Amino acid sequence: MDTPWKHYKADVDSADIYAFLEPVTSTWQYIIVDPNTREAAVIDPVLDYDPASGTLSTIAAGILLKFIKEKELNVVRILETHAHADHLTASQYIKQMLGGKAPICIGERIKQLQGHFAPVYGLEPRDFVKSFDIFLKDEEEFSLSSNITGKVIHLPGHTPDHIGYMVGKAVFTGDSIFMPDLGSARADFPGGNAKDLFASMTRLLSLPQDYQLFVGHDYPVGRQHDCMATVGVHQTKNKHGKFGTTESQFIQFREARDKVLGAPRLLHPSLQVNIRAGKLPPASNGRVWLKTPTKLTNPNIPL
Ligand SMILES: [Fe+2]
Repeated sequence: MDTPWKHYKADVDSADIYAFLEPVTSTWQYIIVDPNTREAAVIDPVLDYDPASGTLSTIAAGILLKFIKEKELNVVRILETHAHADHLTASQYIKQMLGGKAPICIGERIKQLQGHFAPVYGLEPRDFVKSFDIFLKDEEEFSLSSNITGKVIHLPGHTPDHIGYMVGKAVFTGDSIFMPDLGSARADFPGGNAKDLFASMTRLLSLPQDYQLFVGHDYPVGRQHDCMATVGVHQTKNKHGKFGTTESQFIQFREARDKVLGAPRLLHPSLQVNIRAGKLPPASNGRVWLKTPTKLTNPNIPL
């Protein structure tokens, strides 16, 4: 890529889509722009985290902010597809750097995950205050500008709260589907399951063939990173869900595959930050502590 982004059209009132790759976690971040009004939405921005040195940084988010500044965009929404388990969200940071007005949005089922993980990370109800601003319902429509409307589609399976965003013929699918040669994401996180993921992929593959499915990650082998394939291409080529795949075939494959996958490298830092929209624990003397829940396999290990 000559620029740090790839450009697409959403085929609705000329909405522009800019895709930015965060290379360390292979995450695709998106900015949707109404070129007439310069109103924009940011989807799934990344906060850089190096677990070995315990360092948070804002390289990826800085690239998005520079783009927003140079294009003189007015970001009206920050959209999360789900509580990511493999990278930290920069939503809170982006919101703050843009003046604190753009609401951070996520599917309403995030509350299930917050309830599940709060005791895991020792979080209290007060810790969730001022995290997400808007909890979106299934099929809810919202305006990105006076010309452009977004629509929420519930796409569970990878996680139970997972939603996608449809803007014209563009669908931001998060981790509900991967590029055709990779097929699908894992479905073994709490509340996720292969049956729901198959139903979500089937829903996506039932859209008109020229609809564009934008993915949340890409892990290419023997090709460049890519972020979009049409529904028509997925129907014939998706490695795990192309037309003709049965639900039982998919479930059998997905569950067997997930059994041998290790936990994501950034699982614990990600979840405890992402269920709070990127809000960090309280700092003391400029330091922040993230927690690692630890199982004791021998009861004689002294506490
Ligand atoms: Fe994910």
